Amino acid sequence: MATVSPSLLFFARVLGLAVAVLVLIWALAFKSSFLTPSLSQQDLIYAVLHPLLMVIGFILLSGEAILVHRWLVGSRGLKKLVHLWLQGVALASGIFGIWTKFQGKDGIVANFYSLHSWMGLASVSLFGAQWLIGFLNFWHRGEVRTVRIRILPWHVFLGLYTYALAIATAETGLLEKLTFLQTKRNVPKHSTESMVVNSLGLGLALLSGFVILVAVSPNYQILQSKLLYSETRCLSS
Ligand code: HEM
Repeated sequence: MATVSPSLLFFARVLGLAVAVLVLIWALAFKSSFLTPSLSQQDLIYAVLHPLLMVIGFILLSGEAILVHRWLVGSRGLKKLVHLWLQGVALASGIFGIWTKFQGKDGIVANFYSLHSWMGLASVSLFGAQWLIGFLNFWHRGEVRTVRIRILPWHVFLGLYTYALAIATAETGLLEKLTFLQTKRNVPKHSTESMVVNSLGLGLALLSGFVILVAVSPNYQILQSKLLYSETRCLSS
């Protein structure tokens, strides 16, 4: 596996920014697509808030929290604190984002019919469980060191799995919404709106690749200093 160069981090950030801009353009410039049959202003706000909170609050913030250990300079305690806070805000956005969908007149149970809603519930629930276990084991420091060391690989695996699940959920949400718009609201297949939504989906797929690559690659700075150390040893022997 190649080392994580700062340019990978840069690409991840640029893609994150592009995704944020695209979802904002969609939500703000194509507002009528989010109008519900009730035509009420409040329902429109809830409908627009859902993709915004899920993409910017849940996915982008949790991606940034995953990257924290790769760019933040400082003590391990500081990195853990920022990681925990960012993941906490991402979780709150995820819960709030699902809550906006419960505001319809049909109630909670009537809504959970789609693959998107099942995957969404699974990813936010897993995320919540992961955050709680992470809090208890790493931040609270109530556990003995050996337990924390044993749990770490599972924490990393579950964190990346949940992140990938959230991306897949957003993709199903985009597909569901766009299919609805193209079949029921006469949005043309080659319209600007369709392009924006497709680009958003593509942006999310690319972004997740970069974030996961950065997360699983060896730390660039540590690797650089190890290489320097072994080169100096080779020269001196
Ligand atoms: C990680 C991202 C996401 C998660 C975890 C998520 C989660 C959920 C959940 C749990 C529901 C069901 C709520 C209910 O039926 O009462 C839902 C509904 C919905 N979501 Fe998302 N969502 C995400 C992203 C998106 C995105 C990007 C869109 C694009 C517009 C979207 C569009 C919808 C729509 C149209 C519904 C109503 C129809 C349905 O239940 O399938 N979602 N979402």
